[in-house]
Amino acid sequence: MTYGFFDDTRREYIIETPFTPLPWINYLGSNEFFGLISNTGGGYCFYRDAKLRRLTRYRYNNVPRDTGGRMYYIDDGTDIWSPTYLPAKVTLDTYRCRHGLGYTIFESSKNDIVSELTCFVPVEENCEINRLVIKNNSSSERDISVVSAIEFCLWNAADDGTNFQRNYNIGEVEIEDNIIFHKTEYRERRNHYAYYSVNCQTVGFDTDLDTFLGKFNNYESPQAVVNGKSGNTVAHGWSPMGSHRLEYSLSPGDEVEIIFILGYTELPKDEKWDGPAADGVINKNPAKEVINRYNSSESVKSELAALSEHWDKLLGNFIVKSEDEKLDRMVNIWNQYQCMTTFNMSRSASYYESGQGRGMGFRDSCQDLLGFVHMVPRRARERILDIAAIQFENGGAWHQYQPLTKRGNADAGMGFNDDPLWLIACTYAYIAETGDHTILDEPVPFENKEGTEKPLFDHLRASFNYTLNNLGPHKLPLIGRADWNDCLNLNCFSEEPGESFQTCANIESQAESVFIAGMFVLYGKQYAELCSKRGYHDEAAKATEAVEKMSEAVLKHGWDGEWFLRAYDSNGDKVGSKECRDGKIFIEPQGMCVMAGIGVESGHAGKALAAAKEHLTFKYGTCLVAPAYKEYLLNLGEITSYPPGYKENGSVFCHNNPWLSIAETVAGNAEEAFEIYSRICPAYIEDISDIHRTEPYVYSQTIAGQEAPTQGEAKNSWLTGTAAWTFVNVTQYLLGIHPELNGLQIKPCLPDRFDNITIKRVYRGVTYNISFIRSNEKGLWVNGSKIDSDIVPAAPEDSVVTVICRI
Ligand code: GLC
Ligand code: GLC
Repeated sequence: MTYGFFDDTRREYIIETPFTPLPWINYLGSNEFFGLISNTGGGYCFYRDAKLRRLTRYRYNNVPRDTGGRMYYIDDGTDIWSPTYLPAKVTLDTYRCRHGLGYTIFESSKNDIVSELTCFVPVEENCEINRLVIKNNSSSERDISVVSAIEFCLWNAADDGTNFQRNYNIGEVEIEDNIIFHKTEYRERRNHYAYYSVNCQTVGFDTDLDTFLGKFNNYESPQAVVNGKSGNTVAHGWSPMGSHRLEYSLSPGDEVEIIFILGYTELPKDEKWDGPAADGVINKNPAKEVINRYNSSESVKSELAALSEHWDKLLGNFIVKSEDEKLDRMVNIWNQYQCMTTFNMSRSASYYESGQGRGMGFRDSCQDLLGFVHMVPRRARERILDIAAIQFENGGAWHQYQPLTKRGNADAGMGFNDDPLWLIACTYAYIAETGDHTILDEPVPFENKEGTEKPLFDHLRASFNYTLNNLGPHKLPLIGRADWNDCLNLNCFSEEPGESFQTCANIESQAESVFIAGMFVLYGKQYAELCSKRGYHDEAAKATEAVEKMSEAVLKHGWDGEWFLRAYDSNGDKVGSKECRDGKIFIEPQGMCVMAGIGVESGHAGKALAAAKEHLTFKYGTCLVAPAYKEYLLNLGEITSYPPGYKENGSVFCHNNPWLSIAETVAGNAEEAFEIYSRICPAYIEDISDIHRTEPYVYSQTIAGQEAPTQGEAKNSWLTGTAAWTFVNVTQYLLGIHPELNGLQIKPCLPDRFDNITIKRVYRGVTYNISFIRSNEKGLWVNGSKIDSDIVPAAPEDSVVTVICRI
């Protein structure tokens, strides 16, 4: 069952009912100001940091779900309704929510009054614009009143939801004309405020939530709305909010356009006040400048056009046209859009990440980069340097860092032994995309300590050596607190409820990870290539030797007979083996080891992939582990804390499915590679939106697995490494447009049904127009001539190259 449909021309998903199984959300914002918005107008916005600079309040885990956000009430004389359905919750005559790239539009109508609400953040501005157009489609004159409402968050979202003994005393606002200013804590150390404006004369306003709502009401029927009269209140403490009241008399066919702006202003310390600080009157000029800039119909239109162009540019570097519209819409629109979102948000703010928790993950950020480097190479470069700066001199790394301070986060600790290798992966991907080797010479400190700067290349060397310096009894890498699977905690042994499985006092043990061994082989080869390119031939040779040894160790000690083992635990017992009662086979080492090329020639790889298919794959995807663990096991940690079939304990943990698909391409199995891709690909499973429940235009982190009672139900949509990895999978391995240090390799691996595909790929400033054609004679023709290699030779910047690939 579906709740809407894709409109590929407009690059939108159009939701036709407010009653989606869960809130289906979108993101607004491109640079520093962001908003989350659901298909009923819920959500919130923030400046740069969802925890520390939250503009509007959002109550996670609320009952009912998803109340608050951008609230509008239209009183048409008969009913009071919301163009977003919520909060008024009055059944609309028509309703559509159009989620597009960086904007959301609600088209609704009731009693012959038609509304269109457009929400977006201008590309270069720190504000959200809500344009509300109301039209009288009836044959009589109508008196309409409109009430807006937002609730301010007292900036730090964590304090805002906890420290009430203080919070109820500090809220402050100012009101000038049609602008409401939220200035809590501005009198002391903050040099920023928020404002909420409307571009026409108001007949009333409110800033005090209690008065606005009245006793015992919620947002469904606030007193100020139901009574038809705003309180003109000035908030002193409690919960400051912003509400405007507007009244219109509309003749038949008349329409009115109202522009609301919710913005953020930051000022230099000595310009904070308009007059003496003791008077407490804030300097409103910078806010007014912004408001004046966007207060007209024309400017809103041109900003919307600029936003669309912004996305044309971002998405223009990879465009595929095939006979499969689902493939095209994912590659050209939604997968890239989600990659950009994970770049902006990391794992901070979604409907499942509260914006208050995690900072930027070392491994997460490195992997996210694989999916956006082709869109914004400059920002990818900056990100790599930021990440490398939280590495230790021994190659280990803080597991997370805070985006505002860019400092390692001591709470999350260190010792996740896969982390360092991801730095090689993303740096290699950046250079393969751009050809910019100079990044390797950039001085980067260790642990952000001044004076410790070394060229980025030295950081990669430290990463590589970190694995080699931390080998266990089978010459496999020690796992540390965890590897990619945060929940496989082989050194933890936690018996204390609530304790973090990752950072609790860990025992010192020799637990080893076959997964990290696979990573070492894959990214160790990339490291060796980078060494050679720099002329470090001895080092390259040594690295290659170490990689070969690791491959041997995997085949010798990491092979279980039919598939790759997952690990050795602290006792030296096998994890992910046929000998185990539960947890006999894991997906991660099958994907990673085969991606790395281990056992491809010897036949191990083929067996491992067949086993993954047999034991882990079912109709909704490939599960992380089978059989799922049935009881909590001290020696394995958090993975066994989840009920069978959920999260790391045997759900389809989408992030690692593309590894398996890539592995199938390495083994040359195009059909199964594509099956794995499409089984979890949102556009391909739109029809089961009622089972899947999360948004059908983006990936979710997890889908309930074969042993779960709610098979196929997804959770944690949007902020997942799945976005980047599926983009790598589909563009670089299935479609086979693969950036290498030496140029663009073209090597598709597609099921037989695909023919006549064209791809536009902008790479290192050159536009490649590539066509795939089925043919008996195979090979690559570049500008009409057949070439011997599968790497297209470099061409001058700004040139256009035609490539025919006969497959
Ligand atoms: C979460 C984490 C990621 C980890 C994965 C598997 O998505 O953000 O770092 O690799 O879970 O445990
Ligand atoms: C939990 C989650 C896992 C995530 C981790 C991050 O363990 O199950 O997916 O990676 O938290 O700290």
